[in-house]
Amino acid sequence: MSLNILYRGPAARGQHWQKLFAQNLPEVNWHTWPDVKDKSAIDVLVCWIPPRNYQQDYPNLKVIFSVGAGVDQLGLASVPEHVSVVRMLDPALEQQMTEYVLMSVLNIHRDTLAYAQSNLQQQWQPLKSRSAAKRRVGIMGLGNLGQAAAQALVSVGFTVSAWSKSVKTVKGIQCFAGSRGLQPFLQQADILVCLLPLTDDTRGILNLSNMAMLPSGASIINVGRGEHLVEADLLILLKEQHLRYAILDVFDKEPLTNDHPFWQHPQILVTPHIAAITQNDTAGQVLVENVKRYINQQAMLGLVDKQQQY
Ligand code: GLV
Repeated sequence: MSLNILYRGPAARGQHWQKLFAQNLPEVNWHTWPDVKDKSAIDVLVCWIPPRNYQQDYPNLKVIFSVGAGVDQLGLASVPEHVSVVRMLDPALEQQMTEYVLMSVLNIHRDTLAYAQSNLQQQWQPLKSRSAAKRRVGIMGLGNLGQAAAQALVSVGFTVSAWSKSVKTVKGIQCFAGSRGLQPFLQQADILVCLLPLTDDTRGILNLSNMAMLPSGASIINVGRGEHLVEADLLILLKEQHLRYAILDVFDKEPLTNDHPFWQHPQILVTPHIAAITQNDTAGQVLVENVKRYINQQAMLGLVDKQQQY
């Protein structure tokens, strides 16, 4: 029996992937939402956001592939029990995220935001610098993206630590875990990078009391989800000079509204959720590989534990 895939997303990506499947898995039938004649024939959904009421409308659905690294947007609690969820594990996403984290850590480490302000005032104002080895970067989240970023930071010479929900060991990195590990981890992180998945446990984790545990003059980089950060708490800690800079790629509400205080803030750099963007060519190959694995009943790459929510 042939497999029926329903794709929902940007048209150009859909056309690219449809061709890729025709070349690599011609037995698969590719459908593009909303053009589906027999919804009960659909086995696999490929999307960022699923169609409304998909749980009822596609009764024979077996797998949902997220087109991105995250799966929180699917609303995991409402995914039927028998439906598997798979996130996009693409080395090209790791590469982009690593670039973004390196760029942000280096900009904070070398005070680029302060110099951008001096530029505006035409002020020649050298600031005191520190060696990378004396700058402690703490990464929250040790999934594939967190590990790739951590290793790149180590190779530049930073002192790197990481915090994850369960105990992990990574060479060259001091690892902290669980709720007991959070305080000692935060207390030693001069630059905090949030690369956590968004779950019930991690929503709002960058709040006043946690961020207050960071050393005075620490900075934060958020490339997880906007809902990890309590935005008002960040503004308080920047104002109090407890935090020095924030580089943010994700926000509570995207796009950021025109009147949002982050835009004009001299200690904040905003980027429009571009840290790691799904690339049609490489992500398409990962998807084909995973669908092959599904057909052959092999373990799929990036299979999500719905209980853990990542
Ligand atoms: C983007 O935020 C993603 O999850 O891929």
